[in-house]
Amino acid sequence: MRHFLDLHTTDVAELRGILDQAVAMKTARAGWPKGRRDAELPLDGHVVALVFEKPSTRTRVSFDVGARQLGGSTLVLSGGEMQLGHGETIADTARVLSRFVDLIMIRTFEEATLTELAENASVPVINGLTDASHPCQIMADVMTFEEHRGPIRGAKVVWSGDGNNVCSSFLHAAGQFGFDFTFTGPASLDPAPGPVAFARSKGVKVEIERDPMKAVDGADLIVTDTWLSMHDPQSARERRHTLLRPYQVTAKLMGAAKPDVLFMHCLPAHRSEEVTSRVMDGPHSVIFDEAENRLHVQKAIMRWCLEV
Ligand code: CP
Ligand code: NVA
Repeated sequence: MRHFLDLHTTDVAELRGILDQAVAMKTARAGWPKGRRDAELPLDGHVVALVFEKPSTRTRVSFDVGARQLGGSTLVLSGGEMQLGHGETIADTARVLSRFVDLIMIRTFEEATLTELAENASVPVINGLTDASHPCQIMADVMTFEEHRGPIRGAKVVWSGDGNNVCSSFLHAAGQFGFDFTFTGPASLDPAPGPVAFARSKGVKVEIERDPMKAVDGADLIVTDTWLSMHDPQSARERRHTLLRPYQVTAKLMGAAKPDVLFMHCLPAHRSEEVTSRVMDGPHSVIFDEAENRLHVQKAIMRWCLEV
């Protein structure tokens, strides 16, 4: 069974194959109306369940539209409206959904929920974000970088802000695709040790630099994300804002990197918190290509999972 659970547990040749297919599918439908189905319909007859225990705009819409473009149909399910929210176990939910659908994408809290779902499902499971990771996002980010700048191998990526779930998946990608990664942020919000160790085990340079201006020296890509993730308590908001304010991505920070540096953000962004509007809407920003590429890369992930 081909589950798409995390970047560090999926073979890099498979990840590269997914990216190649995403680019091919994007190219093939350039200029087409969004609702037109692809020339090939490998998901014809397949049903995809999209389970959300947290809010979503991009993941929800891109998986739904993507499955339809491939000829499949979708069910968008909110965890709170399922029996899952009323005490049914994740294992039983996995067994039941597997009798009805061909593929399950889940956005949930703990990584253990994702693992339990995958262990008990008899259909492939895709990680649509957990508290610990967001692999679909980073596949789209790698695709977007390469679309604009060519191979990401050997590039320098700088993450400014909270060492959160998206940061962890970036570190996994650094190890898998061979690029250097510098984290700049407060020590109490450092990235998780596991993803740092994974990237270092693959021989890429991972640096922690508290001074954001020094961190971005030579950067090919600067990335940030919200200061308060969906799993963080609202009570942490003020403290996090104080700690993270020096790591806001500003035009000045962008100006200290390479002249052709790119800016990415998985979105949703909080303008004038983690990034200024000048950067979001500026010439280095590729945030909407990044959002669009979720569609193409996830179509390729669904095809990979179903081997179609
Ligand atoms: N980037 C991302 O996953 O966005 P959504 O939360 O809107 O799905
Ligand atoms: N780090 C954010 C990403 C949202 C797509 C969160 O988990 O809320």
